[in-house]
Formats: sequence, C-alpha cells, structure tokens
Amino acid sequence: MTKIALVTGGTRGIGASISSNLKDSGYTVVSNYASNDESAEKFSKENNIEVMKWDVSNYEQTKSCISEIYNKYSSIDILINNAGITQDAPLHKMTVEKWNKVISVNLNSVFNVTSSVINKMRENGFGRIINISSVNGQKGQFGQTNYAATKSALIGFTKSLALESASKGITSNVICPGYINTEMVAAIREDILKSIIDTIPSKRLGEANEIAEMVSYLVSEKASYINGATFSVNGGLWMD
Ligand code: CAA
Repeated sequence: MTKIALVTGGTRGIGASISSNLKDSGYTVVSNYASNDESAEKFSKENNIEVMKWDVSNYEQTKSCISEIYNKYSSIDILINNAGITQDAPLHKMTVEKWNKVISVNLNSVFNVTSSVINKMRENGFGRIINISSVNGQKGQFGQTNYAATKSALIGFTKSLALESASKGITSNVICPGYINTEMVAAIREDILKSIIDTIPSKRLGEANEIAEMVSYLVSEKASYINGATFSVNGGLWMD
C-alpha cells in the first residue's frame, strides 16, 4: 500500500519541494499550511497534492486535523516537521511577542504534530520522522536567539525520540539546512545577505530540492538504520 506523508508548512519554500519530491517518489502526500491560501491553491493544482490549512502551533486544531487525516487515510507513515518562521531581532530588541511566536510555531508545533501521530506509528511498527532544523540552530546567528533556540531544541527532541521509538520501527532524524533560496532568505536585507553568502564556502545559496533529496533518502527503506542523526546541508557554512 502507498505510504502516507504529512509535510507541515508544505506548500511553500523547502516544504513545497519536499512535498513534490515525496509525491514523485510515489507517496501520498498531505501538505499542511497556515495562512497563504493563494499559494497553497496554486501549489495544490500544479502538483496535484492535497493541502490542509491549520495552525500547527495550536494543539487542539492539530489534534482535530490529524484525526481527519486518519479518517481518510488510516495511517500517517511519514512526518516532515518543516513549518517554521523567523522574527529576527537582537535580544536587546526582542519583544516577548516575537519570542513566543517563534517558540510556538517552530517548536511547540513539533510537539503538537508528532505527539498526535506517534501512537499510531508505534502500533503500525513503522514510521519516519524528519525534523527540519537549521544551520543557525547549530552555530547561532546574530538576531536569532529565538529562532536558533527552537532549531537547536529540535536536535535534542529528535535524538530523544529516536531513543524512544527505535524498537517500534520508527526512525527520527534531523536535517539542518543552510541558507536556502526561499522567500524566508530573500527577506534578509540585501547587504546582510550578501555578506552571509561571502562566508559560505560554496559561495551560493542552496536550492530547496537539495534538502528535499536528503528527505527522500531518509524516509526510504534504504535508510532504516539511520536514526537520531543530524545532517548538515549548508555548502560548508558550518561543519558539524
Ligand atoms: N555580528 C556582529 N555584529 C553585527 C552583526 C553580526 N553578524 N550583524 C549586525 N551587527 C551589528 C551591526 O554592525 C550594527 O552595529 P552598529 O550599531 O555598531 O553599527 C548593529 O549590530 C545593528 O545591526 P543592524 O543594523 O543589522 O540591526 P537591526 O536591528 O536593524 O537588524 C537583524 C537586526 C534584523 C537581526 C539584521 O541584522 C539581520 O537581518 N540579520 C540577519 C539574520 C539572519 O541571518 N537571519 C536568517 C533568516 S533566514 C533563516 O533563518 C533560514 C535559516 O535557517 C538559515
């Protein structure tokens, strides 16, 4: 039977590329999104992928939307926790609103979604969970105490979950993308972005499909012995 994949934040940027790549590999994909109806509809039409709108930072909404997916498909075999936002500011200018928003969208969401699928994966004796972290969760970044805190938290989350779930056929791994050619990175001030690219040994941004290819490998049967691992895909920006 076809395996079912859920990709959070799956209609734009890295998530869109992960979703379409998984579909091309033969999975049935449901792509979650939070707000941008127009790009979600366009993505859905162009890729023939089901999209589902809810706020992954909201526990109750997440529970209820995931039970809808179970009613339709009976299992979620692959979960890609990709949804994430930035609200950059140095800590001395960081508001509590920016702090809480980034913590809840980038980190609480991972608890909300993963805890809603883990029991069925355990019953089924199979699961693939990939968390999308960031190079800035590994190395830190000026203006990103909130974002970096969530992204390094995902590494600890992933390793702990791997320990808890390995005996049930579930793997849990984390990918740390570097600066990828998406709207999120395009929003960085031009001169700052240029100075960041200068520090990347490959001297270019990554492409979303370079992350999607890594995801497709990690969810495959071939990767069943890879568990609790952290993968850097960053053009050499940080070697860890
Ligand atoms: N290291 C040390 N000092 C720095 C610095 C750095 N990297 N960047 C800025 N500064 C200094 C500046 O020189 C300046 O000093 P002076 O006041 O003495 O001139 C001071 O800090 C203020 O700098 P800004 O004018 O940049 O401050 P700001 O408040 O206007 O902007 C900021 C702050 C929004 C965080 C801006 O610096 C910025 O956009 N930085 C890039 C952050 C970044 O990389 N975000 C990644 C987003 S994409 C993403 O997150 C995806 C992923 O996973 C990789």
